[in-house]
Amino acid sequence: MGTMTIDGRKIEFTDEKNVLSVIRKAGINIPTLCYHSELSTFGACRLCTVEDGRGKMFASCSEEPRDGMVIHTNTGKLRKYRKLIVELLLAAHCRDCTTCVKSGECVLQELAHRLGVKQVRFENTREQRELDFSSPSIVRDPNKCILCGNCVRACSEIQGIGCIGFAFRGTEAMVMPAFDKKISETDCVNCGQCRVYCPTGAISIRTNTGSVWEALNDENVRVVAQIAPAVRVA
Ligand code: FES
Repeated sequence: MGTMTIDGRKIEFTDEKNVLSVIRKAGINIPTLCYHSELSTFGACRLCTVEDGRGKMFASCSEEPRDGMVIHTNTGKLRKYRKLIVELLLAAHCRDCTTCVKSGECVLQELAHRLGVKQVRFENTREQRELDFSSPSIVRDPNKCILCGNCVRACSEIQGIGCIGFAFRGTEAMVMPAFDKKISETDCVNCGQCRVYCPTGAISIRTNTGSVWEALNDENVRVVAQIAPAVRVA
């Protein structure tokens, strides 16, 4: 319990678990990709970074609120930093947005618009990987994965299955089922939780035609829709 100063305004907090929640309580819409209040904190994307009173930058989702903190959420340095993060994510991301099933509801796409990313200055050096169509309920496109880990945590923390995880490190890092198996070869129960938390088109609902509307007639989609709640703001 205490008070902090956010962008010059005094904001009281009680049991908020991190600085990000206090910022949101103040009505400030700070961008995030890897934070969800229902999942454990991962702190990977760094989009929620803010500055303290001395100009030190830190990820607000991973910091506990403390009485007397001074926080800046929208300085020129932060705007430049967030734009660079989105640019780097896009550089390693398949950019077929116009034909992507997630177009219009992709968080990365929305952030690129919001942060004014009009072109990507960096070359995409990521190796193209095969899509996984083996599951009756979802399609996994590793070329659209931004390594936020939301699907990994949703699968293990919400569903208690853990059929996907991180493999390799650094620029080689990937999300995949163990030993690069197909989804259908894992313990996946087709619940669709990974799709609910995926911010991009890396995991989408399996349809026969790729059309979301036609998918409404697909038995698998109806099953997933019943089990998985609608995507919510973290
Ligand atoms: Fe805080 Fe991703 S939302 S690091």
